[in-house]
Amino acid sequence: MKTIQVTASSEYSVKIGSGLLHTLGAELSGICKVGTAAIISDSNVWPLYGEAAKASLESAGYRVINIVFPAGEQSKNGETYLSVLNYLADCHITRSDCIVALGGGVVGDLSGFVAATFLRGIPYIQVPTTLLAAVDSSVGGKTAIDLTAGKNLAGAFYQPRLVLCDTDLLTTLPEDIFRAGCAEVIKYGVLFDNCLFDTLLRDGLSFDRETVIARCVELKRDVVAKDEFDTGHRQLLNLGHTVGHAVEALSDFTVSHGEAVAVGMAVITAAAVKYGICGSDVLQQVRSILAKFRLPGATQYSAQALMAHILSDKKRLGDSVTLVVPEAIGSCRLRPTSIDELKDLIEAGL
Ligand code: GLY
Repeated sequence: MKTIQVTASSEYSVKIGSGLLHTLGAELSGICKVGTAAIISDSNVWPLYGEAAKASLESAGYRVINIVFPAGEQSKNGETYLSVLNYLADCHITRSDCIVALGGGVVGDLSGFVAATFLRGIPYIQVPTTLLAAVDSSVGGKTAIDLTAGKNLAGAFYQPRLVLCDTDLLTTLPEDIFRAGCAEVIKYGVLFDNCLFDTLLRDGLSFDRETVIARCVELKRDVVAKDEFDTGHRQLLNLGHTVGHAVEALSDFTVSHGEAVAVGMAVITAAAVKYGICGSDVLQQVRSILAKFRLPGATQYSAQALMAHILSDKKRLGDSVTLVVPEAIGSCRLRPTSIDELKDLIEAGL
């Protein structure tokens, strides 16, 4: 097992290893008074791991209630949020109780926002069950739900008390979802760590999960320590996301977030080559690694269609966007880009 300490507005551990779900009750009792634990999960995860989570909590003395909503991004909305809040109130959950988010990014984001706002904040812990949640969304305290106008538009920065990442839970992930999560892992290599990148390029999908997840969490920990509230440095984590979000939305979400980020990384790297920001060897390496993980490195959408989607967000963006551009494998920088220039840049990257 590996343990990483995150230092933000509060300090907590991220524990990563095999078999950790069975330690959930014991771990929780070390940080949260024994009372009621409210497990929030979804219809994919609960049938697989709900009973084991419940048994572990009960054996540590917790009363357990569970709330299970339909799996998928479409559940990450105000309606689910309010129904969870109302259920917690009906069950007389108090500030000395605790929420356990058992699931992937949707469960983690929604549960975190519930925890941030129920009774003005109650403790919660994250038990990520997807690779994407393990390396990214479960760590760093970004919580949110979607609004009609877009993703993650209502939320809060609210840190969990613990992240318990049982790598065994990733074994039941469908392969395409695991590969999509790999796009976020590759992202950390491109952003900060050429050794991680080389390991992934060498090992492909058989990379050592505990080691690689722990490395990504360390890298994210460093980002969060510098810029918890996302005012600058943390925006680096958006590598591939400007074009990625547009691809995701244009495909009506049939292209997953991870696949879309893969496309976005390839497009921005190709543009960076054309703009003389990095060499063509960087693009070659990005394309090779995406191919190794069978992730897409190109899109059928035109620059015009991508821009139309990006511009639909223009009110929120203002007159410029901050792009993340690679200078080398393991080193990227933020580049404020006017909306006018963005179209040329995307065209250059397609
Ligand atoms: N998922 C990006 C961040 O935590 O900032």
